[in-house]
Amino acid sequence: MMAAEIKNLKDLKNTEYSLKKLFNEAEDFLPLLGTDYVELYVGNAKQSAHFYKTALGFQSEAYAGLETGLKDRVSYVLKQDKIRLVLTTPLQKGGEINRHIEEHGDGVKVVALWVEDATKAFEETTKRGAKPYMKPTREEDIDGYVVRSGIYTYGETVHIFVERNNYRGVFLPGYRKWESHYNPEPVGLKFIDHIVGNVGWNEMNTWCKFYGEIMGFAQIVSFVDDDIATDYTALMSKVMSNGNGRIKFPINEPAEGKKKSQIEEYLDFYNGPGVQHLALATNDIVSTVSAMRERGIEFLYVPETYYDDLLERVGDIDEDVETLKKHGILIDRDEEGYLLQLFTKTIVDRPTLFIEIIQRKGAKSFGVGNFKALFEAIEREQAARGTL
Ligand code: FE2
Repeated sequence: MMAAEIKNLKDLKNTEYSLKKLFNEAEDFLPLLGTDYVELYVGNAKQSAHFYKTALGFQSEAYAGLETGLKDRVSYVLKQDKIRLVLTTPLQKGGEINRHIEEHGDGVKVVALWVEDATKAFEETTKRGAKPYMKPTREEDIDGYVVRSGIYTYGETVHIFVERNNYRGVFLPGYRKWESHYNPEPVGLKFIDHIVGNVGWNEMNTWCKFYGEIMGFAQIVSFVDDDIATDYTALMSKVMSNGNGRIKFPINEPAEGKKKSQIEEYLDFYNGPGVQHLALATNDIVSTVSAMRERGIEFLYVPETYYDDLLERVGDIDEDVETLKKHGILIDRDEEGYLLQLFTKTIVDRPTLFIEIIQRKGAKSFGVGNFKALFEAIEREQAARGTL
């Protein structure tokens, strides 16, 4: 998330906090094995797929479209280590996907979660009040079967539960292996660290409650903005995590400030709540970021003065400060270690979705110490768009 939990980081330091402690009291009624895939509805999946391969190092994985018997849409599946993205575009006029794209532009529709039992996941969440999106559905082909089910979360975003222990195919039934002669090298992205949702004014607690009560998550960090709001494009944020800590969903809401909240700008262009950024983890942020830059990705610009008192702020680090400065990489420390992170500019035409690159060296937080530099960088982008 956008470095926004400063107050609570202090609280964290004072509180003997551990996920285990939080979850010991209640059984995990929704055990999640990890993120299964993230599906984006986009205007042109073929060209988007080329971008994700070229600029972000994703690999061709699977395909479904006219050639596999689909009549109304096409989907490209891309993979990099444990990260799986699906890009879907409608092939006919009308229908839900076209409407979604008209409303939101290119954006994340599905955050799919890997489960042992998709039927139970559906029952447990809907009986606690989740709005159903997809009843438990068995899909099969010669490689076995999967069961998927789904519920709505904020805005029009949905969670699909994927049960795939009886499937050995490339992705899901109906997809075939996507063979391509164009295979750019990966850039070192490993897994999804967290996925951030932007929700409307005063809706943060509603959605934290949703993840708490309906999905059995616990709040691990919160940041409630007050004095910061008067100077910077303000937001409030809480981070929800599932029991094993593999799934972390920070939830942002806009806050009043002197300038227009970056979250409000998102809501204006996305026409409501949705996914703001995917934070993707790497083991070597310098090599990942330099590869992405070479391939055309633009990152938020941080002034060189950020590095002047860096070591005083974060203490000893393994990396050379000059190298971090050259690449504009941000560093923050918490009581357990430090992290390095960097944010792309928005990667779609509307100022909505972007990507965070993160490397954790012990730190379990989200970069609170960087919020000022980041907010200023975002303000420069907003000013250029005339939306500040
Ligand atoms: Fe983040």
